Amino acid sequence: MKLIAVVALGQNHCIGHNNEMPWHIPEDLAHFKALTMGKTVLMGRKTFESILASLGRPLPGRPQMVLTRSSAWAPEVVGSDAITRASSLADALEMARARGLDELMVIGGAEVYGQCMAQLDVIEATEIEASPEGDAFFPPLDPAQWVRTPGERSESKGLGYTFVRYTRRA
Ligand SMILES: NC(=O)c1ccc[n+]([C@@H]2O[C@H](COP(=O)([O-])OP(=O)(O)OC[C@H]3O[C@@H](n4cnc5c(N)ncnc54)[C@H](OP(=O)(O)O)[C@@H]3O)[C@@H](O)[C@H]2O)c1
Repeated sequence: MKLIAVVALGQNHCIGHNNEMPWHIPEDLAHFKALTMGKTVLMGRKTFESILASLGRPLPGRPQMVLTRSSAWAPEVVGSDAITRASSLADALEMARARGLDELMVIGGAEVYGQCMAQLDVIEATEIEASPEGDAFFPPLDPAQWVRTPGERSESKGLGYTFVRYTRRA
């Protein structure tokens, strides 16, 4: 099973502030959707809540595993049967393997990326040409470990960004 992270990050590796994304780039949301639709996604409880706050519902069309250490946690959402609680990363990976998944998409946040980093095969990054203030950061990307393949640079309302694939060196 491949472990693939999907992240949008600033030049300072900022990914979030006050449990929200520091920018609004519709093209990046569309990219995220294209990469993850129909696939199982793994996220931390705070990211799940951040998505719930911004969309008003969980991500549609994607089975979701939510990491939390709280055994009392249950998503207070209607039709939440596609949402599974995982009490540890090992637990989540075991569930994913038991489901026979080829890929598990790791969608954040900082704490979860940090823990998955050593096991990631691919990182689908949106590199944003900004260094916003924040309280959540993506780990450093060591060029000795990752091959960086950038796509074309684009702009959204004057904000430059590039979709970049990082593949772990053999
Ligand atoms: N730019 C992007 O692409 C992107 C993507 C996703 C998120 N974000 C941003 O990232 C920020 C959230 O990141 P975060 O680091 O604060 O939180 P997070 O990683 O989303 O969630 C952290 C929570 O996950 C649970 N958790 C983490 N590791 C666990 C483990 N091994 N076992 C069991 N539970 C575990 C814990 O929940 P409990 O406290 O319930 O135990 C922990 O408090 C937000 O600002 C969000 O907007 C940005």
